[in-house]
Amino acid sequence: MSVSLREAVNGRFLIGAAVKSTQIADPALGSFIAHQFDTITAENDFKPARVQPRAGEFDFSVVDQFVDFAQANRLQLVGHTLLWHNQTPAFLFADDTGKPLPRDTGLQNLQHHIHSVAGHVRGRVLGWDVVNEAIDDSAPYLRDTVALRSIGDDYLEHAFRFAHEADPNAQLYYNDYSIESDSKLPKTLRLLKELKSAGAPIHGVGIQGHWTVSDTGVPERLDRAIRAFSQLGLKVMITELDIDVLPRNVKDRDAKSDPYVNGLPDAIAQAQADLYAAIFAVVLKHPGVVERVTFWCLHDGVSWLDNWPIRGRTNHPLLWDRNLSPKPAFDAVLHALRS
Ligand code: G3I
Repeated sequence: MSVSLREAVNGRFLIGAAVKSTQIADPALGSFIAHQFDTITAENDFKPARVQPRAGEFDFSVVDQFVDFAQANRLQLVGHTLLWHNQTPAFLFADDTGKPLPRDTGLQNLQHHIHSVAGHVRGRVLGWDVVNEAIDDSAPYLRDTVALRSIGDDYLEHAFRFAHEADPNAQLYYNDYSIESDSKLPKTLRLLKELKSAGAPIHGVGIQGHWTVSDTGVPERLDRAIRAFSQLGLKVMITELDIDVLPRNVKDRDAKSDPYVNGLPDAIAQAQADLYAAIFAVVLKHPGVVERVTFWCLHDGVSWLDNWPIRGRTNHPLLWDRNLSPKPAFDAVLHALRS
């Protein structure tokens, strides 16, 4: 088998990927995953809409496949996610007309969901992204979600308490994107401080890491954010790493918005490799603080970025191309890990 990221990291932190249920069911891809990584996250299958599709009816069939695959291959499993505004059934926090439920009912539903899901995999996950993306991009602080309207400002600390009750040994994380940025870092620090002073059992923070190849300021901002989060006594993870090479502000798919259908030009592949190497150099500057780096998806052909912000483009955000061949980015990460 080819050289692996896991061997190159050699226990200094955990290296992982978000994977799909079809991938862990495929023997060749399954052994590729087990060879390359220490840890996996289900890309979609632990989300509220998947595990509680109808009120009070839980479906853990796919969750159990992940648990079995992780155990059989000695991989650590990360749960994603217990509370999010997206991929979450409306009935949890709103009535049939869309009106937020009274606080007590919303809180009970949150408790029942978290106790059921985190309780089901108790002792079999390393940790949970308890809360995902609760900070607003442009508003001064929290995102205006139906759960917040139902329960109130303290809904996030309750989520952490419920998760801790369900699985007292699981690591509990706050997970969000762009929280290393000038605009979101202060709001994130505020939230983390408030959670800690309210006594919420929070152990770490996940910087998602959905970056773009032209954003050469990432390493510096990442370094600053890791320091700031660790000063609060929290562990840090990069939880959804990928580097987008396509324009984001687009509406239609055409030659301009989808320029690399026949492959990534060498110069862009190299710029992407350089940015990946710089990100890993920052990670290595913080031993014992950065506990994990997880890529969001396995290879370029299965990335969510092939379908966002518009569907059907040919993006190239990861370390392996559509044939699972290592790209210059893979070599650059290996080199960074070895130097
Ligand atoms: O399962 C249905 C399928 O039945 C249907 O035929 C198909 C047609 O559109 O859609 C399928 O659902 C899609 C689902 O992924 C599974 O592939 C949804 O449309 C699609 O919206 C959904 O996207 C996921 C997205 O979260 C939802 O917001 C991506 O796969 C997943 O990578 C992405 O992950 C998020 C993290 O959870 C949180 N951070 C951001 C990250 C990227 O958006």
